[in-house]
Amino acid sequence: MSTTRPHDPAGTASETALDRRAETARATGIRKLFSADPARFESFSASAAGLLLDYSKTAIDAETRSALFEFARSRDVEARRDAMFAGERINTTENRSVLHVALRAEPADGFRADGDPVSAEVMDVLTAMANFATKVRNGEILGARDDLITDVVNIGIGGSDLGPVMASLALAPYHDGPRTHFVSNVDGAHMADTLKHLEPATTLFIVASKTFTTIETMTNAATARSWIVAGLGEAAVGAHFAAVSTALDKVEAFGISKDRTFGFWEWVGGRYSIWSAIGLPLMLAIGPEAFREFLAGARAIDRHFKTAPLEENLPVLLGLVGYFHRALMHYPTRAIIPYDQRLARFPAYLQQLDMESNGKGVDLDGNEVAISGPVVWGEPGTNGQHAFFQLIHQGTDVIPVEFLVGANAHEGTDMAVHQDLLLANCLAQSEALMKGRSLEEARRQLVAAGRSDEDAARIAPHRVFTGDRPSLTILYDTLDPATLGALIALYEHRVFVEAQLYGINAFDQWGVELGKELASNLVPVVTGDAPAEGRDSSTRGLVAAIHSMRNH
Ligand code: F6P
Repeated sequence: MSTTRPHDPAGTASETALDRRAETARATGIRKLFSADPARFESFSASAAGLLLDYSKTAIDAETRSALFEFARSRDVEARRDAMFAGERINTTENRSVLHVALRAEPADGFRADGDPVSAEVMDVLTAMANFATKVRNGEILGARDDLITDVVNIGIGGSDLGPVMASLALAPYHDGPRTHFVSNVDGAHMADTLKHLEPATTLFIVASKTFTTIETMTNAATARSWIVAGLGEAAVGAHFAAVSTALDKVEAFGISKDRTFGFWEWVGGRYSIWSAIGLPLMLAIGPEAFREFLAGARAIDRHFKTAPLEENLPVLLGLVGYFHRALMHYPTRAIIPYDQRLARFPAYLQQLDMESNGKGVDLDGNEVAISGPVVWGEPGTNGQHAFFQLIHQGTDVIPVEFLVGANAHEGTDMAVHQDLLLANCLAQSEALMKGRSLEEARRQLVAAGRSDEDAARIAPHRVFTGDRPSLTILYDTLDPATLGALIALYEHRVFVEAQLYGINAFDQWGVELGKELASNLVPVVTGDAPAEGRDSSTRGLVAAIHSMRNH
């Protein structure tokens, strides 16, 4: 198996044009680009669908950017994008189309999967979801004892959880339906802590699983079922469950009726499924109308991605900057820092979207790749500033930061001071990362603050910030449904662009299989029904320790 770098097909260490640009970038830094071009922001920012992307605080200059566009063209980004929108089977290892874009389209957009129109089916499910959500919200659909449904518990994991969790929190100001809760972990604590505050008579469970086989979800669903039976009797189960899946036969076997089952299609990847019936808990919380605005925001980015020239195309720009940082500058991680408390789960959502998509070891032809996607992580600001920002500013690894922030908050003038402070902090962080503070500046500041020359010389190195540390900022007006839809779609397409640059398939996830297989083999070992012999000594030792802790 050969090992290749996408921009260096020969797989040698020879200097390619892009590598040379990276060397120049390292030598130049970011500050110098700003002093050389006072209007840098104008030429290194772009906007679409209410999102403004500022990528000026990176070491990318005009020449590097041109080289990146050329590279994107050489990697067929446009043709692959068109193939995705045309419903071709671009997920080659699973032989599937990739059509989450069809879920937020208008019928006139005419999406087809493998030649067959999909819009009518998509609209049917959307209408069925809206009818169900409306009736639960207005009390036409009640619990088994005619109680209003006040709480909805979504049982799902991965793509059947992370999107609805993230979006429900993000759109909290729009909630006017039942409260939403999410149980994903097979750790019984998750279910127990959720049910503690709920009543069976007023609780609706949604079992969300594309495959309807995922062990965590099936285990949690069985526990939820027992809880309903214990509280209300067997006959109440039908009134307290709904399901979302592509495996309709398996849902039926579980005992959930057809009129409470919402389907989707194999051409919707789990991590791209928030737009499908997987979004049902969100629709229950915010209502069908706001949910449609959410879809419309995503569609606006889809249209932009499909039609805007690469030079103005937000997902392409974001993807190229991501590729530049990862593959050319060799930064191993990227931090996603929303200065928006309601986007607290956005980094976790992006972890699955990005790392399950682009954390791959081989290219489309099965050749080992030298590099694929970065580690994605993050927490909201300003909290992060008081935790890990120390390392981002002064640590030995350079970590590109992606700041997300709204100009306006939902809290209005009463709390205007909060939003002013939030924005000032966000801008301050990206400015500090770029500008830094030299040894001489640090020394002078200390002397000005009354320290002796000797003291100042001793302390100054600790107060140096190298600066020239890259960041992006994505600014929007207010975090409303359309903006959230646009933001998610932007990142989805960015992941697509980066996958194309790496030459990998972003739409399979074979890497999650081995752990699942081993876990099912290990269950009887943990329960003591099968011996641990034949396993490695670490597993054997841990199993023995577990048995001894459980038996005393
Ligand atoms: O863990 C891998 C995975 O297959 C994800 O891709 C998916 O989102 C998650 O499990 C849940 O799968 P399902 O919706 O089939 O339960």
